[in-house]
Amino acid sequence: MTCFGRSTETAELWRHFKAGRNLLMLAPRRIGKTVQINHLRDTAAEQGFRAIVLEVAGFREEKDFFRQCCATIQEELSTGAKVMTAFNDRLSRLFRGHDGGDWRQALLQTDWRDFANHLLAHLDEHKNEPPWLILVDELPIFVLALRERGGVQAVSDFLYWLRNMRQKYRQVRWLYTGSIGLDSVARRDSVEGALNDLDVFPFAPFGPDTARAFLADIAKRRGRTLHEDAAEVILRRLGWLSPYYLEKVAEDACTLVGTGGVLDLPRAQTALDRMLDLEKRTYWSTWREHLDRNFSDPERSRFYTVLETVAKSDAGAGSDALLPALNRGSEPVGEAALRHLLDTLLADGYLAVDSERRYRFRMNLLREWWLRYVVL
Ligand SMILES: Nc1ncnc2c1ncn2[C@@H]1O[C@H](COP(=O)(O)OP(=O)(O)O)[C@@H](O)[C@H]1O
Ligand SMILES: [Mg+2]
Repeated sequence: MTCFGRSTETAELWRHFKAGRNLLMLAPRRIGKTVQINHLRDTAAEQGFRAIVLEVAGFREEKDFFRQCCATIQEELSTGAKVMTAFNDRLSRLFRGHDGGDWRQALLQTDWRDFANHLLAHLDEHKNEPPWLILVDELPIFVLALRERGGVQAVSDFLYWLRNMRQKYRQVRWLYTGSIGLDSVARRDSVEGALNDLDVFPFAPFGPDTARAFLADIAKRRGRTLHEDAAEVILRRLGWLSPYYLEKVAEDACTLVGTGGVLDLPRAQTALDRMLDLEKRTYWSTWREHLDRNFSDPERSRFYTVLETVAKSDAGAGSDALLPALNRGSEPVGEAALRHLLDTLLADGYLAVDSERRYRFRMNLLREWWLRYVVL
């Protein structure tokens, strides 16, 4: 997968890592975080790093995390296999008497903290080789899974332990991504302190120029030419320029024109309208699932009320409209509770706010979708 239009972000990220920083990159789904960190991994050697990407979203427990870590290092192209052989030797010296010599065995037989401590000490020590960069994708999902199994204590133990490892082993760099606010997960469990050494790396959707170039590039690769008006309407109706949605619209629009043809305004409009078709519901349904999966009532239904009120209002909605809408329910909702709801919807990418504190959908097309399929 090529990583289009992220040269500024990429340069900035390497600058942080070279300055010894560990980063937290929280941004809504489908904005391109996974593409970005894969690109970091693929260009790590040029930048003087050895990098691995850990996909942790499907994992249930701490040992899964470190099992994946070892397996991925093993496959790292520069020195991975060598490093794991040396790690096996290290383990057999440490656990003499055991059937040592194999990290899988050692992981089964020891506490995850001991095992991981040895692993990170090992990664930290290779001073003549490039430093390791561990790119952890979707950490908050793993943290929520830990919470389901072991409660707040497990979350706290794990996050504080990771922090401790960052302090102790300074040669190893970390970046964590998350689509749902790790900060809000942490706030709920009062473990914000476990993250306070991380630098937050703001990761935005494409700017208008990059979005136009991206659309033109997609059209060109498919042998079509993109008309300026078509690009403008796509930018306007998307509102929030995530590469995922830009790509979906552009690809669909290309199917409406023959090879060599011009992708014009009417075709772009048709493709945009078709983004709201029922069979494209999976493009959008994650926004709804996120609320259903990660929140419970009464909070969840309050989110729906806020989003409905905002969606119905062309000028955007302020607290003057939102509070009465929320207070039609049984339990009263005050200013502070409203602010908390709005902060979450802002952080998770649903809403944007203007200088008059009026809230709108960040993506115009999501607003249209919400009105068509969610609002009764
Ligand atoms: N920089 C990029 N260049 C090209 N396509 C991209 C880029 N970023 C994202 N995409 C497209 O958007 C999709 C979603 O991106 P992804 O990295 O999976 O988002 P996230 O991890 O933030 O949820 C990708 O599969 C790809 O098609
Ligand atoms: Mg991702």
